Amino acid sequence: MPANAPGRTTTFRIGPAAQELTRAALAAVHAPSILNTQPWHWRITHDAALLYADPRRRLPILDPTGRLLTVSCGTALHHACVTLAADGTDFEVEPMPDDGDPDLLAVVRYRGVTGPSARAQRLRHAIPVRRSDRRPFAARPVPQEAIDRLCRAAQRTDARLQMTWSHDLADLAVAAGQANDALLGDPRYRAELASWIRRPGEGHDGVPVDTLAPQGVRPVPIRDFTAAGAGTNVVTRVDVSDREARYGIVVTDGDGPHDWLTAGVALSAVLLTATAEHLATSPMSDLMENEVARRTLRRMLGGVGYPAIGVRIGMPATTMAPPRAPRRPAAEVIEVVADEADPPQPPEG
Ligand SMILES: Cc1cc2nc3c(=O)[nH]c(=O)nc-3n(C[C@H](O)[C@H](O)[C@H](O)COP(=O)(O)O)c2cc1C
Repeated sequence: MPANAPGRTTTFRIGPAAQELTRAALAAVHAPSILNTQPWHWRITHDAALLYADPRRRLPILDPTGRLLTVSCGTALHHACVTLAADGTDFEVEPMPDDGDPDLLAVVRYRGVTGPSARAQRLRHAIPVRRSDRRPFAARPVPQEAIDRLCRAAQRTDARLQMTWSHDLADLAVAAGQANDALLGDPRYRAELASWIRRPGEGHDGVPVDTLAPQGVRPVPIRDFTAAGAGTNVVTRVDVSDREARYGIVVTDGDGPHDWLTAGVALSAVLLTATAEHLATSPMSDLMENEVARRTLRRMLGGVGYPAIGVRIGMPATTMAPPRAPRRPAAEVIEVVADEADPPQPPEG
């Protein structure tokens, strides 16, 4: 019988495990997602957090296979795991546990209490601070030690971060150009992109127009939101150079849903580590949304592995963070179904 069935009052007992798992799911609302669709749903039981994809939030034109939806859910999974590890919770993750339910992407099982991880605590602090920063970066190089730490963060997952070198920039620019031309030439894509752009303060999802930045002259163009009719007001100069930006590609061994989830976990590890290192980042998935561009990237990577998502990395040009993209209310994305308390006994006599 459902807990809210008419004529029945139910009380819930939320034990410490469910409380801890709920805290983790709450932190995961901050995770980045494709066009800020936040395509996830959490179900918390007395000892597990179940992460579901929300297929109603898949982008039919931009993401027909659901790859980017799954990558987005992977970032939420990693945010939750960081929070548990930072709180000293022992847990186990089972990815894709049910062949009959492809929307169930992972089960995070509570295993008890352990020592808090200092590395996770550092990343946990980065969760509410991280933003996608599309503005041009400062004309200062990113220290190589910081890049090495990002690569190590990805390596701790089952994916890797392949950094591009200056001799790759031409190929990367070609891939970005191919993606831009193909995507912007498709009126269905432009309409879909436009439908996810929001005026400041409007709604709980989508990309706020004040987080966008002009293309200007960049060695590698980023996704062009202006073609969807969005003006930009973060930076008004067009002489954007971005010349010290670095580019990393999250690469997985395979190209199926399990790999996409892994790519999201790696992406989150890279973004949170970068934030903790005071670097600015913005994900780039347009390169992966067009098969010709993705093939160019695969060739650039020597045909080894599958590029899942790109990341632009740099020194922030200003200490002012970009505006925050909104999030859906927690009650929309987290459902607590922890143990029912014993039903009340009928009065005696
Ligand atoms: C799978 C994925 C793909 C993304 N692709 C792009 C992209 O191509 N261009 C871009 O500017 N931002 C991209 N983003 C960043 C999202 O737009 C951003 O996470 C979202 O708008 C929420 O904003 P926030 O990251 O500042 O919290 C992507 C994020 C994810 C997780």
